[in-house]
Amino acid sequence: MNWIFIFFWLAGLSLGLEVHQSHSDFIKKAGDEVQIFCSHERTDYRVILWYQQSPGDTAMKLIGYLHYQNPSIEDAYKKAFGMSGDLGGNTAKNASLIIQTLEQSHTAVYYCAAREAQ
Ligand SMILES: *[C@@H]1O[C@H](CO)[C@@H](O)[C@H](O)[C@H]1NC(C)=O
Repeated sequence: MNWIFIFFWLAGLSLGLEVHQSHSDFIKKAGDEVQIFCSHERTDYRVILWYQQSPGDTAMKLIGYLHYQNPSIEDAYKKAFGMSGDLGGNTAKNASLIIQTLEQSHTAVYYCAAREAQ
């Protein structure tokens, strides 16, 4: 059986922005669906970006971002990854990254970051 380890860690790009993570780390099986949440209180930050850092790699690769309700996902990640959330309105933000069918190659550290919409 293949076990997948995903360590989910969050970082706020803006000083003073507190970002909350839904899980710190967890183990899932291949084929499982995973949804990780990222939330914060900056009501005017309407973009949430997701990054992946694979084991042994220092690069943080951009998976994509959610702008208001619209996901924009990089080609390499389109097949397996989804995003949901609504960053409009003047309330606290809460968005998620979804991995539809876990594979070994998804073992990574995942980061989310928030910023204003340009
Ligand atoms: C974000 O949304 C999810 C799903 O609706 C919910 O389970 C979670 O508690 C929410 N997080 C916060 C901090 O509101």
